[in-house]
Amino acid sequence: MSDGLVYLDNAATTFPKPIEVLQGMVDAYARVGVSPGRGNHDLAMQADDMVAQARARVARFFGAPDPDRVIFAANATDALNTAIGGIVRPGDHVVATRLDHNSVLRPLHHLAAAGVIAYDLAPFDGRGFVDPAAVAALIRPATRAVVMTHASNVLGTIQPLGEIGRVCADRGVLLVVDAAQSAGQVPIDMTALGVSALAFTGHKSLYGPSGIGGLVLQPAVEVETTRFGGTGMDSSSLVHTRAYPLRLEAGTLNLMGVIGLSLGIGFVEARGLGAIHDREMALTRRLRDGLAENPGIRLFCADDLADHLAVLTVDVPGMDPQDVGAILDGDFGIAVRVGLHCAPMVHRDLGTIDRGAVRFSLGVFNTPDDIDRAIAAMDAIPHPRRR
Ligand SMILES: Cc1ncc(COP(=O)(O)O)c(C=O)c1O
Repeated sequence: MSDGLVYLDNAATTFPKPIEVLQGMVDAYARVGVSPGRGNHDLAMQADDMVAQARARVARFFGAPDPDRVIFAANATDALNTAIGGIVRPGDHVVATRLDHNSVLRPLHHLAAAGVIAYDLAPFDGRGFVDPAAVAALIRPATRAVVMTHASNVLGTIQPLGEIGRVCADRGVLLVVDAAQSAGQVPIDMTALGVSALAFTGHKSLYGPSGIGGLVLQPAVEVETTRFGGTGMDSSSLVHTRAYPLRLEAGTLNLMGVIGLSLGIGFVEARGLGAIHDREMALTRRLRDGLAENPGIRLFCADDLADHLAVLTVDVPGMDPQDVGAILDGDFGIAVRVGLHCAPMVHRDLGTIDRGAVRFSLGVFNTPDDIDRAIAAMDAIPHPRRR
């Protein structure tokens, strides 16, 4: 990528997508792009088969026992709405965290504002981690679920899910995880971690297209239908299908997206999830070290990059992040994300709620040269502290 654009906005969506994923999608869709599960002709069955194989691949990838509990959705936001709306009941209490994205916070806020549930947010510490004891302290008899992000999209910190899973199991509370950032970056075995339901999105570190994601459920977790419609079965009944996965999938599936998601997971598996992560973290350390030498930059939660994704957020005191982003883009051809990153509580706690911050996030195609260009560009910006 080094000759042209330096793309460092991979936490928003990874770019570019692997060419084998894009070509594979077109090839498969050109061959069997019909409505899966909606006909008994051979082509519909082939499409159905492809979807079944994709469910099995997703279940394996996340350590889930039953492919029928892999529910395809439009993205992580859609999956989280399905999970939250289908799990909570009037009078319930939910625990989330101040690291959470609006895809968790807004459904909870909506239900709380309507008087259906109450919720509390666990804090994070100065290094960007939620203490499992702080989650435990907020659980009360009415608590139905802990709903939280696996990794912060602002700070890049990977939360201690295994310990929180044990707290939830001890207290008889479901653990619903937003894995939008972590899926494809770090291994996730939902059974070993004690995760009841996992929401993911296909277009970030799974290297699939936008418009596809999903919700993976443990077999004992019941999620009620909140959307109703055609499923291709039980068509004489006006009652929506109760069997999974169709209980939570209404309408024609995004077949092209499902194919792309499956190919994206295949891409990550072929390169090796650990190898991708190690390489990205080596580049993230290089970026951290370069930016740390710049006296005009304040780095958030990057002293110790243990339990971290390839995400670094910085502030340039005295400069509007929008201006930093515009200079990086316009003068240096470097794409980053500026603003609040849809996670308002994090910015409140960092003291950046007014203008947000500047986020660098890496992907599989970034090179050391990309990182050096980003460091040099930040050095060339006339920061107020050095004028
Ligand atoms: C932590 C986190 N959760 C949820 C989402 C929502 O993902 P999507 O927009 O694909 O639904 C994002 C996307 O930025 C995210 O970073």
